[in-house]
Amino acid sequence: MTSVVLVGFMGTGKTVVGQALAARLQYTFVDTDELITQRAGKFISNIFSDDGEPAFRALETELLRYLTGQPLGKQVISTGGGIVLAEHNWPLLRRLGDVICLGANPESILQRVGKAQDRPLLAGTRAEAWERIQTLLAQREIYYAKADWTCDTNKRTVPMIVNTIVQWQEAKAS
Ligand code: S3P
Repeated sequence: MTSVVLVGFMGTGKTVVGQALAARLQYTFVDTDELITQRAGKFISNIFSDDGEPAFRALETELLRYLTGQPLGKQVISTGGGIVLAEHNWPLLRRLGDVICLGANPESILQRVGKAQDRPLLAGTRAEAWERIQTLLAQREIYYAKADWTCDTNKRTVPMIVNTIVQWQEAKAS
């Protein structure tokens, strides 16, 4: 089985599913937002406010380049929701593993990001976040559709999602 790269909108569960999937497969877990925070020495919201979104996007690409150069073995890599936007990130994502998108409808996303801490793109009131989620989801649909496969996460628990991903991988390998 190959490494797995999880992409998808904010609040689709990439981090929590990624951790559970890595534990199940006994793969290393990597989270791009976490690594960017460590490497930059500041929170993502501060990178956005101090340096701007393009600077954050450049850090994402730089990190993907770094990861593709590492002999890391089998891994589950959870990515930030906007990593799919840059065309030049795609060959890097594909080099890292099977690219699986976690899909969710706007209602599930709003519910899951309710307690959002470090998501500058969804800052503001709940009504503003709702508007933003719908706008961004519509804009990004075509990018998420580039994944090798999309796993529906609506009304599904983390163990159910992990099982579905493992089944997809097994079917692909057989
Ligand atoms: C972003 C998603 C965030 C983080 C940053 C930008 C996006 O990650 O990378 O705030 O553009 O969708 P999560 O998807 O883990 O929330």
